[in-house]
Amino acid sequence: MTRHILVATDGSDTAQKAVTLAAELAAKFDVPLTVGHVLQYGRRADEMARMAEVEHIVDAVKGNANADFAFLNRSGGGLINTGTGPSQQTMRAISLIGEEIVKRGAQHARDLGAKTVDTRVVMDDPADGILDMAEEAGADMIVVGHRGLGRVRSLLAGSVAQKVNHNAECTVVIAR
Ligand SMILES: Nc1ncnc2c1ncn2[C@@H]1O[C@H](COP(=O)(O)OP(=O)(O)O)[C@@H](O)[C@H]1O
Ligand SMILES: [Mg+2]
Repeated sequence: MTRHILVATDGSDTAQKAVTLAAELAAKFDVPLTVGHVLQYGRRADEMARMAEVEHIVDAVKGNANADFAFLNRSGGGLINTGTGPSQQTMRAISLIGEEIVKRGAQHARDLGAKTVDTRVVMDDPADGILDMAEEAGADMIVVGHRGLGRVRSLLAGSVAQKVNHNAECTVVIAR
């Protein structure tokens, strides 16, 4: 019997489908849902820009004076985390975007009838972070999307989805 569902979102459209499915299951089974996101300070700048574009996430958070969103204007596939690493202000911007993503995911889940919804944001390797969040929440089902924000297209699922599916001890559902 399912007791607790964790859904992981990177803000992509496919992750949104995962949130929809997880919310429907949580509502139907009447179990708590955790919406989780893993921050990556070393994420590729172009992926971050796509994440932030989703439903104008940046517009919602960019008023924050302590955060620096300049990395979003960098084109190409460079890493945010170069050389000395990202500044405090850049990390703050990435955190704000992550918080906004789970907040919106949780609201979407509540709109679909999920009653008990909480959010978690951690910093880690994405798949490891998802597995740890699931364990800490006591989740016995993890829902992820088939694809995410990555631009590498293959017939196979994205690498995060594959790693979670491969390493999880609980049921993994991959939404398409
Ligand atoms: N940083 C992240 N935080 C939370 N969930 C994530 C993260 N990255 C990926 N995911 C989850 O894994 C799914 C598949 O993404 P991924 O394997 O990264 O594919 P892609 O290679 O297309 O980006 C996403 O839909 C989302 O559910
Ligand atoms: Mg990805």
